[in-house]
Amino acid sequence: MRYDRIIAAILALAGANPAGAADVAAGRAAAAKCVACHEADDWDGESAASLQSLIADIIAGKVKHKQKIELSSADVANIAAYWAQGKK
Ligand code: HEC
Repeated sequence: MRYDRIIAAILALAGANPAGAADVAAGRAAAAKCVACHEADDWDGESAASLQSLIADIIAGKVKHKQKIELSSADVANIAAYWAQGKK
């Protein structure tokens, strides 16, 4: 049926991440800067919210970190969501 492709496209869009919500796949990509020193499962069991505030504190200079981190706030949320999932 010729509408199959259109329906598939609509379903793909419907499954896409709503704007503003943390994106685990994007977080995995953004965390590429961190994997030299960190594994995703370093923070297994940590909540995304606490990771997000921890990373934000590092960026703000409130928490000491080995390396200066520069990330957009979206990247921070995405990395936190990805790491909070643990090893995947
Ligand atoms: C050059 C190695 C290195 C890189 C790259 C690196 N880190 Fe780290 N990170 C460390 C080390 C070492 C520690 C533990 C000691 C410290 O805080 O300096 C740490 C600790 C942390 C902590 C825990 C801080 C705390 O006080 O509990 C977080 C969160 C973190 N890193 C996030 C990140 C993020 C996000 C990135 C990528 C943007 C990143 N790190 C990249 C070396 C690194």
